[in-house]
Amino acid sequence: MDVASFETRLHELRKRTLAAVAAAASLEELDAVDSGVLGRKGELRDLLGGIGALSAEDRPRVGALANPVREAIEAALAERRTILEGEALEARLLAEGEDVTLPGRPLWRGSRHPLPETEREIVRIFGQFGFVVVESPEVESDELNFQALNIPADHPARDLWDTIYVRPPGDGMASAAHDEEAAAHDVGSAADGGPRLLLRTHTSPGQIRAMRDSQPPIRILTPGRCYRYEAVDASHGFEFFQVEGLMVDEGTSMADLRGLLDAFAHAMFGAARRTRFRPGYYPFTEPSVAFDIGCVVCEGSGCPACKRTGWMTILGAGMVHPIVLRNGGIDPERYQGFAFGMGTDRIAMLRYAITDIRAFLANDMRFLERL
Ligand code: PHE
Repeated sequence: MDVASFETRLHELRKRTLAAVAAAASLEELDAVDSGVLGRKGELRDLLGGIGALSAEDRPRVGALANPVREAIEAALAERRTILEGEALEARLLAEGEDVTLPGRPLWRGSRHPLPETEREIVRIFGQFGFVVVESPEVESDELNFQALNIPADHPARDLWDTIYVRPPGDGMASAAHDEEAAAHDVGSAADGGPRLLLRTHTSPGQIRAMRDSQPPIRILTPGRCYRYEAVDASHGFEFFQVEGLMVDEGTSMADLRGLLDAFAHAMFGAARRTRFRPGYYPFTEPSVAFDIGCVVCEGSGCPACKRTGWMTILGAGMVHPIVLRNGGIDPERYQGFAFGMGTDRIAMLRYAITDIRAFLANDMRFLERL
């Protein structure tokens, strides 16, 4: 065989193979063409096996003719394979009933809930003054929630802080009547003689814990969830959040308290925000105050939101009562302290202009998404 007849046969092989590739109706058929031509026992190899009979100078010429033929066949195979694979996929998806033209489902982007977001901001602001967070249990003893805070069993302030009492584990139903009795008169112990437990009505018991656990100087914040027996309405929840603060040191005064709360109000509600102290009452502080800020709705001119006073109360505070310091194991002759407590929900409502406290825990995505 000479170079010319190799060329003719290569040309013929190319033409025939390209036609077969184009005609292949399935991946299996295409594979058969592929191995029949390019495979180890394929036609191309078979044909080129004959070049041994050519002269040394003709052999590379045939090689040079064969390469573009091989490349053309490989390219045609690859192209046809892509098409057949696409058709096979489409056929499978159709058979499975998938509509590949449907747009994808958008990913939901989460965001922080306004309550922890507000708590975080409160903690950040007081953190700049050296206050650190301590956490304490939501199920508390009557002793820490009330008695150590100067609220004895028969104290009228208990009415403000009525709550849900918890039967200690292992205490059977038989003691329910006893518990009722105890709730009414005696707060010392449950039927089994253990401490009377309740869902804390404020995070103040965390302050007693902190005083008992450490020595002055103390600067702590106690954020967390609280519970009260409330008639639920737009501004009262039976479940709500507080951040309370406590500072105990030598020489702490009302002026320090005022300065700190002013700084907080300005950081949270704007540097131009007016503030004031009003006399208040809490059993655990003396003197006690309510801390007001200029109304965030009308800026002080008077509107329904501030009951036309121009002021909104955002927290309660005062100098820690000497009895409370003593209950915390601190000598009131040497140390003074102040405490303050605010509703995180209330701060968040003012911050985001929310008018119904129930919205926070209702899990309505339309509400949460809008903040
Ligand atoms: N514990 C009070 C409450 O729940 C808030 C408070 C804390 C007031 C500290 C004064 C000092 O209402």
